[in-house]
Amino acid sequence: MPDGSSTLLQRQPQTGIAEEALTGLRQEHKVLPAKLFYDAEGCRLFEQITGLPEYYPTRTERALLEHRGAAIAAVLRPLAEGGTELVEYGACTEAKAAILLRALAAGGCDPAVYVPIDVAESALEAIVARLRESHPRLAVRPVVADFMSALTLPIPESRGRLRLGFFPGSTIGNLEPASAQAFLRHAAATLGPGARFLVGVDLRKDPAILVPAYDDAEGVTAAFNRNILARLNREAGADFDLPGFVHRAVWNDAESRIEMHLVSRRAQLVRLGGETIRFADGETIHTENSYKHTVDGFRALAAAAGWRPSEVWTDAAGLFSLHLLAAGESP
Ligand code: TRP
Repeated sequence: MPDGSSTLLQRQPQTGIAEEALTGLRQEHKVLPAKLFYDAEGCRLFEQITGLPEYYPTRTERALLEHRGAAIAAVLRPLAEGGTELVEYGACTEAKAAILLRALAAGGCDPAVYVPIDVAESALEAIVARLRESHPRLAVRPVVADFMSALTLPIPESRGRLRLGFFPGSTIGNLEPASAQAFLRHAAATLGPGARFLVGVDLRKDPAILVPAYDDAEGVTAAFNRNILARLNREAGADFDLPGFVHRAVWNDAESRIEMHLVSRRAQLVRLGGETIRFADGETIHTENSYKHTVDGFRALAAAAGWRPSEVWTDAAGLFSLHLLAAGESP
């Protein structure tokens, strides 16, 4: 039976975006919190990034899910006698979850509930609408929240069901390693004993492949990066001059991360939330990091967060990895 409660979005309190932006822009080295990227327009631009020839992670991860989906379901099947609850962190779209749901269904892990968690409310509404058409028997329980905050899942204690966390897209790479570890700990508490967690992790590789993935020829990534400023103009009454900031992607080898910056093309003043922010010529706002892990490095990070690393799947070229983690308490 279709689940009527799927229309009820569970909402968790969020700080105002002007305040969040100002906290970062008042610092000596200016930063903006990456979650501000993901309004409806940001999700749309990110969707476009995922289809770019330079941006290998999405198509590589999708191919992994398609080709390894049966193997993933085979590992999970003994745990999923009573079906599966899929909890996706940071879900702008259900595209990857849909591949996984198909593989789980085909492999005897009967998906019963899908909980997409995201800050982008309109994206969640669109997900609910699409899944109602494509998966009428799946209970969809979206949660509007920052996945870094403490969460209560809108599903009762599962009896005999496998709770499977899903964190694709190497979004975990957008967290500082210490935050990634803290996130994995929270997720372990949220998902509970016996849970499994499938995490997509982009791997360290030649910067000649990495840099264009974050600075494409068409300029879509540049538009995505600048959307954070456009959004502050739209929603927080800021007056950023968009052409006054240039997108820059830099490989930081020591930190093993791609850094995204917006560089001020000249000295300028910007108004935001009653404050004036001063930019020097060439001063940057550091908007995002994308850490690139090694397979063993990520397994060690997950283990330090209390998860038991088990299977890992990678593509033949070693671009991307899918890690299956088991909650610490289980045998
Ligand atoms: N998780 C994605 C990644 O690190 C996010 C991303 C892709 C991104 N392109 C971006 C974030 C450009 C900021 C700017 O690959």
